[in-house]
Amino acid sequence: MSYELIETNVDTAAGVATITLNRPEARNALSNALMNEVSAAVDVFENDEDIGCIVLTGKGGKAFAGGADIKEMADRTYAQNHKENFVTANWERIAECRKPTIAAVVGYALGGGCELAMMCDIIVAADNAKFGQPEINLALLPGAGGTQRLTRFVGKSTAMDMCLTGRMLNAEEALASGLVARIAPADELMDLALEMGKSIASKSKLASMAVKEAVNTAYETTLSQGVMFERKAFHAAFSLEDAKEGMAAFIENRPARWHNK
Ligand code: CAA
Repeated sequence: MSYELIETNVDTAAGVATITLNRPEARNALSNALMNEVSAAVDVFENDEDIGCIVLTGKGGKAFAGGADIKEMADRTYAQNHKENFVTANWERIAECRKPTIAAVVGYALGGGCELAMMCDIIVAADNAKFGQPEINLALLPGAGGTQRLTRFVGKSTAMDMCLTGRMLNAEEALASGLVARIAPADELMDLALEMGKSIASKSKLASMAVKEAVNTAYETTLSQGVMFERKAFHAAFSLEDAKEGMAAFIENRPARWHNK
């Protein structure tokens, strides 16, 4: 598959695919065409049995993404937005991906950029990262889940602060608030993300998908419903050959060999 606005790379040995947003001159602004390419790449990698984790990052060192493409958006009408389901139609694909995803954020992750990172399962950030929802400065509001996902990550007060004032969180603040899982110097961030991806991809892919589904269920249900969901998934895991292999390998003190069955 060839792309114009993203780059893709596959480390077959590690089982990790990388999608790199590639409009550095526009701070990787998320145009419709770019998001179509991201969706298409997620389709390809989700269906590739050798891929166990997808890393999403931005090119240029200055921004993961500066948000939805404001120049492209400026003339949109309500009717158009409604008819085309803007931006859900081609943005939510990454959130719906059943395989684990990691956002590696160098520089700005603003507006839709922050929202896109939050659609991934794990965010890792460079020490120069800045997260924000500055749509208020355009007299807009976040439109790709920002008010919802950010509030779940950082709590109401910080989410309100960020969405109402446009204040950005730096990497340390993002780490402290739980938005980000790990931080690293900018020039080491991709190594960290790829190492994490390799670690995730080295596990049973069926078990990883079950873990992802269970953790995500915590965002959608009450505690008792979530615990029930987890229990059912835990019980079902005993039907996996990989689970039998994992426990046998532990007991026999040898490395496990996954067959993803
Ligand atoms: N859309 C379109 N173009 C953008 C852009 C965006 N979101 N972000 C940056 N660019 C363009 C700039 O217009 C500029 O283009 P020109 O060279 O043609 O003038 C180029 O990228 C470089 O930008 P800057 O000179 O501003 O670069 P900087 O490094 O000084 O600042 C920045 C980077 C802080 C990201 C700044 O560009 C900025 O504030 N961008 C806008 C952030 C924003 O408001 N995001 C929210 C968008 S709305 C949204 O995302 C809605 C949603 O929820 C889905």
